[in-house]
Amino acid sequence: MKLHDIPTPALVVDARAMERNIQRMAAFFSERRCKLRPHFKAHKTPAIAHRQLAAGWCTGITCATVSEAEVIAAEGVSGDILIANEVLGAGKAGRVARLAARVDIKVAADSATAVAELAEAARAVAVQIGVLVDVNVGLPRCGIGPGQPALELARQVASAEGLRLRGLMGYEGHAVAVADRSAREAAARYAMEQLLSTAQMVREAGLPCDIVSAGGTGTYDITGQMEGITEIQAGSYVLMDTAYAKLDIPFELAFSILGTVLSRPSPTICVTDSGHKACTEDHGNPSVKEIEGASVLLLSDEHATIILPPESKIAPGDRIELWPSHIDPTINLHDALFVLDGDEVADVWPIAARGYPEQRALLP
Ligand SMILES: Cc1ncc(COP(=O)(O)O)c(C=O)c1O
Repeated sequence: MKLHDIPTPALVVDARAMERNIQRMAAFFSERRCKLRPHFKAHKTPAIAHRQLAAGWCTGITCATVSEAEVIAAEGVSGDILIANEVLGAGKAGRVARLAARVDIKVAADSATAVAELAEAARAVAVQIGVLVDVNVGLPRCGIGPGQPALELARQVASAEGLRLRGLMGYEGHAVAVADRSAREAAARYAMEQLLSTAQMVREAGLPCDIVSAGGTGTYDITGQMEGITEIQAGSYVLMDTAYAKLDIPFELAFSILGTVLSRPSPTICVTDSGHKACTEDHGNPSVKEIEGASVLLLSDEHATIILPPESKIAPGDRIELWPSHIDPTINLHDALFVLDGDEVADVWPIAARGYPEQRALLP
């Protein structure tokens, strides 16, 4: 199969650029006590996760959902999984408990309710579920307050039959995309000092705290150098996006959205079939690859309207690639990644954990 045989819209991966990203990240962790736990939510593709782990210096895999963890376990990607997110809602704790019978699974928790649900589910099938107390380090999202509130929850986890306290996590998501390096560094360090001082309180209380998990693509080399952080949850680095490409980090854009030109309604405009249903714009419009002076004017459901230099020879039927602005939700719109080696399609990888696999499992 050749590039021009791929039905559009479709995601295409530059296999060599992806491999360079994987090797660059692995090289950083090869020299450190801190290791990588690559975040699966960025790409949801077992074939990529296998390659990230094969490059070495990883503790296991990070997931955002129970479904992702189920895919990782079913595909035999890793026996060490962290769901770096709260697990609550119908049937979820029970599914984690069933996974705990097969793999070393750890789950983030920030409430007594989540702890109680996990413990009950673990006892029901006589397993132990690992728990990291999720500490809020500044991102207005999940996480219990650092210090005393986190310590109190850690005590509850440690004393709950069916659970095993493994440590803490704290995601400095408010820092990862800060453009200025020194401001990013200051924000990440301040956040991590709260996580590390909480870890010290937990240990001084005589409780276990082997894992202190944090970090993302924008902070891997800041948080990853802080004494006491044991692993970094970066995910986007492997294929990247234009939002992260603005930062001073050594990773290349390695995937794009392939579209077909449907119309050239005027000398300065063309329209492709790669609209909202093929890529998201929550981090801004995608960028046009390899056409000097071209930019995306707007996305609509089935169309991308692109501004072209008037001298451009682009015509209906031609192909245009767009660089996505946000990897995670863009990947989640697709079923497959077409892996390119030059103009050849070297492989087609299923995005096995995309969407809501648990809904598919309930279809009659
Ligand atoms: C809990 C958690 N950890 C880590 C990350 C890091 O991801 P990225 O590589 O995109 O910075 C994210 C991203 O949203 C996250 O939600």
